[in-house]
Amino acid sequence: MHSLTKVALVCLFGTAFSSNAQSQVSGQSPSVEDKQPAVRHQNTLHHPPVSASKSFGRLGDPINGLNASQLAAFTEGRDDFETAETIEGGLGPIFNRDSCVACHKHPTSGGSSPINVTRFGLVTDHHFDPLESLGGSLLQNHAIDPRIREKIPPQANHVSFRNSTPLYGLGLIEAIPESTLLENARKNPGDNIKGRASLVKDITTNRIMVGRFGWKAQQATLLAFCADAYVNELGITNRFFPKENAPNGNQRLLAIFDKVADPEDQIDPVSGKGDIDRVTDFITLLGPPPSKTLSPSAAAGRIVFQNLGCALCHIPSMNTDNRSPIVALRNREVRLYSDLLLHHMGSLGDGVVQGDASADEMRTAPLWGLKHSAPYLHDGSAQSYQEAIEQHDGEAKASRARYLRLSKIERDNLNEFLDSI
Ligand code: HEC
Ligand code: HEC
Repeated sequence: MHSLTKVALVCLFGTAFSSNAQSQVSGQSPSVEDKQPAVRHQNTLHHPPVSASKSFGRLGDPINGLNASQLAAFTEGRDDFETAETIEGGLGPIFNRDSCVACHKHPTSGGSSPINVTRFGLVTDHHFDPLESLGGSLLQNHAIDPRIREKIPPQANHVSFRNSTPLYGLGLIEAIPESTLLENARKNPGDNIKGRASLVKDITTNRIMVGRFGWKAQQATLLAFCADAYVNELGITNRFFPKENAPNGNQRLLAIFDKVADPEDQIDPVSGKGDIDRVTDFITLLGPPPSKTLSPSAAAGRIVFQNLGCALCHIPSMNTDNRSPIVALRNREVRLYSDLLLHHMGSLGDGVVQGDASADEMRTAPLWGLKHSAPYLHDGSAQSYQEAIEQHDGEAKASRARYLRLSKIERDNLNEFLDSI
């Protein structure tokens, strides 16, 4: 019954979209007239239904306290998140994977994965050139035709990797007021640590805001991140990013292979939402990783964590205020273990200048749910907590030095603590 309704809805939307797009297309330039409107496709993953009466708190569940329409938005958005895009639907011409879930799936939809994306650029005299005219800095290593798959151009002398992050609890992170992050930045917590708020122009509001998402705190809002991911990871243009990426910057090849009219993400006339909005709903409403009650050794590990100075950057919690339109996100404690600030990390930096972040500045990674998100660090190069901590450098040098002096039992306790948060 449920799935039948769904198919019917998809058909209805399909019709609405094609007629809509037809009328948009007539009267536009010839190159656009050749293009076909995007066709929607269905998700094949199945989930038990989500109901308000179910007890929440497992990884992948929606945040506690949602009303029926918010729960519906969660499941609808998850559906889009899991949907494999097709060429007729606008996938590509160049892309990294055909769905969001392909890189965000462990251990549930919205989780992380070992998949890395590649960034390249040209570094000269401490200047980072993202080589945009050659398709940089993000590489798209898949294509709808093998002849246009991107390669790292010979002009690039810098290549680095970014690991896929988990998306649990990001709605809570978004609901932390900017004033809290600016306050974190004013503190001198010790160990010569000086975090900096990343200031970026948010494409969805056109305002300068504090960046809080991504390894370099390069995005301020979830909607902006999702719109960016649709065009850059899947090749689906949308109202914020209406232009396709050209294969290694080659506009001629793009014109030949780009057959679907832009923007490919179409707005449902009834709800006023596109894929980017529905997927943002899913991520906004996705619950935080459930924390475990601390065992005696994990509790001892928490003290080790504090004594090492980890909590100077990995601040255990911040609070949301009462301004979110979503009641369930208001006045909540967010136990993320991050200050959401940029820090100079020395040799741990990725060498890419992006948004407000310089080559060696990285955002303090939230540590909640750590147990489920291996491998670690921005490039996924650490298989264990120990390997991750040993690579800390720059502002985290003093903290790492203390870590290296721990006894076996203290280290085990710290691991158990990190497994529980
Ligand atoms: C090819 C793999 C890949 C695909 C496909 C992908 N992502 Fe990601 N995602 C990543 C990586 C890598 C990062 C970290 C990026 C960075 O900071 O540069 C990330 C980060 C994110 C973040 C920010 C998380 C944080 O911790 O701040 C959001 C939100 C996100 N992705 C949403 C999406 C959505 C929505 C889609 C589908 C439209 C998607 N992703 C598709 C790899 C992927
Ligand atoms: C100066 C601030 C700072 C201090 C102090 C610090 N960290 Fe970090 N931590 C970071 C940053 C920034 C990252 C992201 C680094 C990257 O991958 O580029 C990070 C990443 C991590 C990660 C990997 C997270 C992931 O999802 O991949 C772990 C684990 C971690 N830190 C644990 C610790 C522990 C334990 C301590 C104390 C010994 C500590 N950190 C001290 C800033 C800090």
